[in-house]
Amino acid sequence: MDKTQVIEQAKAHFAQLLSDQLDRAERLENAAAPKDYTKLDKIVVGLCPGDGIGPIIMKETRRVLEKLLADELASGRVVLKDIEGLTIENRMAQGKAIPDDVLAELKKCDVILKAPTETPNGGTMESANVTMRRELDLYANVRPVSVPDEGIEWMFYRENTEGEYALGSKGVEVPGLLCMDFKVTTWAGTRRIARAAFEYAKKNGKTSVAIVTKANVMKKTDGNFSRICHEVAADYPGIKAEDWYMDIMTANLIKKDRRNQFQVFVLPNLYGDILTDEAAEIQGGVGTAGSANIGDQYAMFEAIHGSAPRMIEEGRGDYANPSSLIKASEMMLRHIGLTEKADKLAEALSICCDKEKAVVITNNKDGASCREFGDYVISKL
Ligand code: IPM
Ligand code: MG
Repeated sequence: MDKTQVIEQAKAHFAQLLSDQLDRAERLENAAAPKDYTKLDKIVVGLCPGDGIGPIIMKETRRVLEKLLADELASGRVVLKDIEGLTIENRMAQGKAIPDDVLAELKKCDVILKAPTETPNGGTMESANVTMRRELDLYANVRPVSVPDEGIEWMFYRENTEGEYALGSKGVEVPGLLCMDFKVTTWAGTRRIARAAFEYAKKNGKTSVAIVTKANVMKKTDGNFSRICHEVAADYPGIKAEDWYMDIMTANLIKKDRRNQFQVFVLPNLYGDILTDEAAEIQGGVGTAGSANIGDQYAMFEAIHGSAPRMIEEGRGDYANPSSLIKASEMMLRHIGLTEKADKLAEALSICCDKEKAVVITNNKDGASCREFGDYVISKL
């Protein structure tokens, strides 16, 4: 190893990364006003079926939306647009996490409903989710979790474009010796996620927001994340802003006598990724949770789980649970201002998943099929 050469290469690499991130931070400081969906004559909803069980659960979700939005679709106020090409085969063939023509199509939509897309393990191919979040600047990953029997009603505001994810495919490696990845926190990026979390708390009568970091270890990135969240919190006098460390928060969520005290969480990207899977499991499994990726100009709604290639290999694909994607479409309807339709869908889902449970999905052939569950939800609309 030529140490001088390694350092010179790394310096040039880091200079480029820092320059790009400084440009991004400046763009965020001067962001345009958010899109107002209520002012649009036509809302274009892009549907990305993805990979593995994705097309199976998308098919049922589309049927549910067609029934629920029959009037809006007939009048042209809402348009469902199928987006082709976000498949692992096409992405690998083109060597791009989101091929250029697919990205151009996505940018013609107002909101996107996305089924899971496979992410290759290792290599340099970025996850399609991560690319989409960055390209469309979907900075707030909003994930609700509720367990009515326990009085749990959590709302997670996970920062979605920064942290370890911003440069996750751009680390430095000296093969056989060491590797380094980078983590990014910007002032504007933190302010906007904190603002989103506190606004949610205020509008929904919540009295506390947990700021979850490892500021005791990651002094710059998490330290500033926490500090900036507290600055934003000062504008919300009725709401308590509490610092928590991520490790103890994972423990708190499994303490039954403790966990229902939490209401809203705001947290950097990677911790949010981890904690929301844990939370979804408490709700009944990752298959039950929906997820919104909100930006000021676009928004994307998805299941929080992956494409489950094992289910396809084992011939269980048709028994996949579409609730997560249906739940995601409920969040989408709420986001674009179709509140009554969202409430109707929420009620139908709650009857099917919590109250009546006449059709039960187990992800195996002993349970109901995805299609049967789709019919069940449709019958409750
Ligand atoms: C999620 C997923 C993604 C993430 C993966 C697919 C890259 O786990 O949306 O939580 O890590 O953000
Ligand atoms: Mg995740």
